[in-house]
Amino acid sequence: MTEIEERTLDELRAAATEAAGRAYAPYSKFYVGAALLFDDGRVTAGCNVENASYGLTSCAERNALFRAISEAGPGRRIRAIAVANRNGHPSAPCGACRQVLSEFVTADAVVTFPGEQGPEIRSFAELFPAIFRLEPER
Ligand code: THU
Repeated sequence: MTEIEERTLDELRAAATEAAGRAYAPYSKFYVGAALLFDDGRVTAGCNVENASYGLTSCAERNALFRAISEAGPGRRIRAIAVANRNGHPSAPCGACRQVLSEFVTADAVVTFPGEQGPEIRSFAELFPAIFRLEPER
C-alpha cells in the first residue's frame, strides 16, 4: 500500500466530514461526504445530492470526482479517498462509485471509510479488484 501519512488521511477525513455537512439528503437522511487527494497534492470534496425521483440521486464520491474533473480536467490521478457520513455509520463506498473512481486512481490508491471499529483503511485494489474496462469492437 502507498505510504500516505496518517495526518494526511486525518485531514482528508475532516474534509469529507465537512462536505457531509453540505449534503442534500432529505429522503434517506444519510448525509455523506467524500474527499479525494490527487497526485498534485490538491483535495476535492463532494457530498450526496438526492432527488424526489430516487434513482436520480448522486453519491458523494462521484460528485467529488465530477467536480474535480470539471475544475481541473481528467489528467490527475487519485492517491487517497476518504468517505464520511454525518450519522457516523460504518459505510464503504458503493460499487457504482468504485467503478467510476477506478478510471482515475493510482495503482496503490487507498480508501478510508467509517468501519465497525473506527476508520478503516483499505487499498482501492482490494475493494475493487475486477474493474470493468471497455474493449470496443473494431
Ligand atoms: N451514498 C453515497 O453518497 N455514497 C455511497 O457510497 C453510498 C450511498 C448516498 C446515496 C444516497 O443519497 C444515500 O447515501 C443513501 O443511499
